[in-house]
Amino acid sequence: MLVKFLLFASLLALSQQQQFSFGGCPTVQIQPTFDLNAYLGDWYEIVKFPASFENGQTCAKAHYDLKPDGHINITNTGKGPHGEKIMANGEAKLVATDGSAKLQLRFAAGTPWGNYWVLDTDYKTYTLIYSCTNMIGISHIEFAWILSRQRTLDQAIMTRLYALMTSFNIDTNHFLPMNQTNCD
Ligand SMILES: *[C@@H]1O[C@H](CO)[C@@H](O)[C@H](O)[C@H]1NC(C)=O
Ligand SMILES: *[C@@H]1O[C@H](CO)[C@@H](O)[C@H](O)[C@H]1NC(C)=O
Repeated sequence: MLVKFLLFASLLALSQQQQFSFGGCPTVQIQPTFDLNAYLGDWYEIVKFPASFENGQTCAKAHYDLKPDGHINITNTGKGPHGEKIMANGEAKLVATDGSAKLQLRFAAGTPWGNYWVLDTDYKTYTLIYSCTNMIGISHIEFAWILSRQRTLDQAIMTRLYALMTSFNIDTNHFLPMNQTNCD
């Protein structure tokens, strides 16, 4: 069963081109407080760890609304490699019991929830999101995104967020920039 699980996990990682690394998940500090209402609205992707479901995409934008059940309705939009409009709908929910910014997200009902941890946000400028799943302690799959309220983000903020991640032993070399030019 262990072997099957590991095989499944690595196939999943490969098929989704997620960042798959050996060793356990790094220990990170999740933002200790979270104001869900202040977090809603538009966010533009500045950099992210590679994920195949966004391959070739430009102008990636996320819109977060509140659903009647208190979950966040996520609408991701962007442009495909040939300029076509791309849209994906998902949801996130707050799972922390200690008030921290620990959320989970999924892109289709019935699929497993993935971690969505906000490591740092000021709600009005930037957010740094991280997700890591341990594969029985010997390997892990991770995602990270930096989103901005605008299509650009101040370099000083980027530098500070990269330093924060490095302090948690997350490899920021995995980040790829999102092209946010010629979008409107
Ligand atoms: C969630 O957003 C989608 C668009 O991505 C919209 O069609 C749907 O009605 C919204 N659902 C709720 C419950 O707000
Ligand atoms: C970003 O996309 C625009 C048009 O979609 C293109 O003209 C530009 O060269 C791209 N920039 C980079 C750095 O790839």
